[in-house]
Amino acid sequence: MKRIDFAIIFMATIMYFFTGCQDANKKKTVKSGYDKEIRELISKMTLDEKIGQLNMLSGDWSVTGPVVRTDFKEDIKAGKVGTMLNAYTAKHARKLMQLSVDSTRLGIPLLLGYDVIHGHRTIFPIPLGESCTWDLDLIEKAAQIAAEEASAEGIHWTFAPMVDIARDPRWGRVMEGAGEDPWLGSQIAKARVNGFQGEDLSLNNTILACVKHVAAYGAPIAGRDYNTVDLSERTLFETYLPPYRAAVEAGVGTAMTAFNEINGIPCTSNHWLWEDLLRGQWGFDGFVLTDYTAILELIKHGVANDLYDASVLAINAGVDVDMVSQGFINHLKKAIENGEVSEERINQSVYRILKAKFELGLFDDPYRYCDTVREKDVVMTKEKVEFARKAGRDACVLLKNNNVLPFSKNIKSIAVIGPLADTKEDMIGAWTAAGDRYTRPVTLLEGIKNKLGTSVKIRYAKGTDYNSWSKDGFREAVKAAKKADVVILALGENWQMSSEAQSRSMIDLPGNQNELADAIIKANMNTAIILMNGRPLTIQHLDDIAPAILETWYAGTEGGNAIADVIFGDYNPSGKLTITFPRNVGQIPIFYSHKNTGRPFNPSDHYTSKYIDVPNSPLYPFGYGLSYTTFQYEQLSVDKTEISKQDTLRVNVVLTNTGNYDGAEVAQLYIRDLVGSVTRPVKELRGFQKIFLKKGATKKLTFLLTDKDFSFYRKNMTYGSEPGHFEIFVGGSSATMYKSSFILK
Ligand code: NOJ
Repeated sequence: MKRIDFAIIFMATIMYFFTGCQDANKKKTVKSGYDKEIRELISKMTLDEKIGQLNMLSGDWSVTGPVVRTDFKEDIKAGKVGTMLNAYTAKHARKLMQLSVDSTRLGIPLLLGYDVIHGHRTIFPIPLGESCTWDLDLIEKAAQIAAEEASAEGIHWTFAPMVDIARDPRWGRVMEGAGEDPWLGSQIAKARVNGFQGEDLSLNNTILACVKHVAAYGAPIAGRDYNTVDLSERTLFETYLPPYRAAVEAGVGTAMTAFNEINGIPCTSNHWLWEDLLRGQWGFDGFVLTDYTAILELIKHGVANDLYDASVLAINAGVDVDMVSQGFINHLKKAIENGEVSEERINQSVYRILKAKFELGLFDDPYRYCDTVREKDVVMTKEKVEFARKAGRDACVLLKNNNVLPFSKNIKSIAVIGPLADTKEDMIGAWTAAGDRYTRPVTLLEGIKNKLGTSVKIRYAKGTDYNSWSKDGFREAVKAAKKADVVILALGENWQMSSEAQSRSMIDLPGNQNELADAIIKANMNTAIILMNGRPLTIQHLDDIAPAILETWYAGTEGGNAIADVIFGDYNPSGKLTITFPRNVGQIPIFYSHKNTGRPFNPSDHYTSKYIDVPNSPLYPFGYGLSYTTFQYEQLSVDKTEISKQDTLRVNVVLTNTGNYDGAEVAQLYIRDLVGSVTRPVKELRGFQKIFLKKGATKKLTFLLTDKDFSFYRKNMTYGSEPGHFEIFVGGSSATMYKSSFILK
C-alpha cells in the first residue's frame, strides 16, 4: 500500500471514531426474550404514544436540576410520559403508576428512576470513600442493599453507578466515583452494576442500573463542572472509557449521556459514541437517556439552533430518552413529518424502553415495587444499618499516625473539637437519595459517646465554623483541649462543598480550620485529626503539624459509630486511597500512572521535569493508607522469566504482619511495560488482594497475570500486547519500588 493511501485510511478511521458514520437506523436493537410481546405492543401504538415513551419528566419529591415542567400528572394521563425521576415511596409511586396504567389507552406502566448513589435510606460512605475499601464484595453488597430499599419504595431504576474517572480533585463530583484508576474503576463498576441489578431484574428487590456519564465527564478542563472536555483519542480509550465498557460487559441496562463534548461533539448528539462505540463495538443493548436537560443544552453548546434541531440531533445520535428537556415530546412528530427522523428510529427506542419495562416485570404487575408492607420491612433493618457501619469504618484511610491512634478507652477525658464533630447533616455527604440527613445520622461526638459511655469526661467545642474566619470559638476549644487526655479534631468540608456544580479552585481546608488545628495541637499533642470531605484536599500543613490524620470521607448513616470504632482500636483501618492527594493545586492533575517523559526528574540534572517550588511527588499517593500494624513484603518472584502470550504468569510474594495489631492489608500489583510502540505509564495497577493477617502471621500471595493485563492501544490503535521487558511492582501503595521483571516473547 502506498504511504499516502495508508495515511488516508488512517485519517478516515480517526474521523470515523470521532464523528461517526450517519447510519443510526442500520443498527439493530438486540432482541429481548419478550420480543413478540414488545412488537405486538408497538404495533398497537400511535406515533404520539410512542413518542410519549421517550419522554422523561421530573416529579416533585426531590430537585436535581432546573424545574421545567410541573404538570406531570396531566402529562402522564395523556400518555406523554414513559419514564420519571424524583418520585418515590411505595404510596406515591403507586399513585403515579395508577395514572399511567388506568388513564392511558394502552396502560403502559411508568418507569421510575432516582439517583440512588450510595444507599437509598441506609446511607453508605460516599462512593469515593467506599472505593477506598478495595472490597468488591462490600461494594456489591452496598449496591444490593440500596436496590432492595429503593425497589421497596417504588423505584425501578437508579442513575448509578457513576464510573467517571476523575483526576482533578477540584471537580466536585470526584466524591461520586471510584477515583483515578481505570482498572480499579472497572472492577468497581462491575461490582456496582451486579449489586443493583442482581441476577434477575424481574425480582422485586433488584433495580435497573445506569452507567454514567458517558463519556469522560470526569475530565472537565480545570476541574470546573460542566466545562469542556478535550482529550486525545488515546487518553479517552486508555483512561476514561474502560469503566463504562466494564459496566456494559456486566450487562448494565441503561446509559446516561454526559453533559460535556468529546472532540467538539456533545455526548448527547454524538452518533459515534452511541451507535458505533457502545452499541456497535461494545454490544450495549439497553437504552440511552440524556442527562438532565442535556438536549436543551445542545443549543448553548452551539450545535443546534433550537430545541427542534437539538431533538433531531439527539435521536439520530442514538439517544432514547429525553430527561426533562421536553424536546422529543414537542418536536419529534414534526421531525418525522419533515423526514428528518424516521419512525423506524422511534420504534427502536420504544422497543428498548419497553424491553426494560418487560424485564422488570412491570407488565406482569405494575405495582410489584409499590408494596407498603415490604417497604416497612426492608428499609433500614438492623442488618443494613450494621453493614453501613462496617462500610463506614472500612472506608477510613489512615493518612498519618505518630503512634497516637488508636486511643485507649481507658482515658479519663477527651475533647471533641471541630466544625464537623457534631453536625448530623454532614455525615452522609451529598447524593443521599431518600436518606435522612438531619436526624438519623450518628455524629462523631455521638459515636464517641456511644463508645465511651459515661466513665470518660467528654468535652465538646466547635472551635470554628467550617468556612469561617472568626476565632471567637478558639478559646473555649483550646481550653477543652488542654484539659483532656486526648483530642479529636474533626475538620473538612461541609457536605455541600462537593458533588454536582461544586467545583473549587482551591482545595485547602476552608476558613480558618488550619489555624484552629495549630492552636489545638499546640495545646495538646495527643490530637488526632478526623477529616470529612468529598475530595482530596491540599493538607500539607496539617501533615506537617498533626500527630495523626484519619480520612473518613462522609462515612454514612452510622458514620460516628464507624469512626469511633477506628479511633478506639475496635477496628484497625485498612482503607487505601483510590485518588492521589496533591501537595498543592499547582500539581493538579496528578496521578500515579503518569508517563515517564523524555526528561524524568533527576536531582543532579537541572533540565529535567520538575517544579522549583514543590516536589513532583504527591502528598499521599494512590493506593496509600496506613494501619495500626505494619506489613512487610518479601520474596517477590515470578514463576517464569520469559512468557509467551498464551502463558499465565504467577507472581508470588510473602506478606507478613510485622506489627502489634491484627489487621488487613491491600496488597497491590503494578506493571510497567518498559518499551512500547507508544509510551506507557510508569505503573499500571493490574491486581490487588485484601488480606487479613493476625499479628505475626505470614501468607504467601499469588497474583496471576495474562496477556490481557499487558494489552493496550498500540500505535495503530489496535488493542493487544507487545513483546518486550516488563517490570512488576508489589507493595502497599503505588509508590512501592519493590520489583521483579520478566520478558514477554
Ligand atoms: C444531573 C446529574 O448530572 C446526573 O448524574 C443525575 O443523574 C441527574 N441530574 C438526575 O438527577
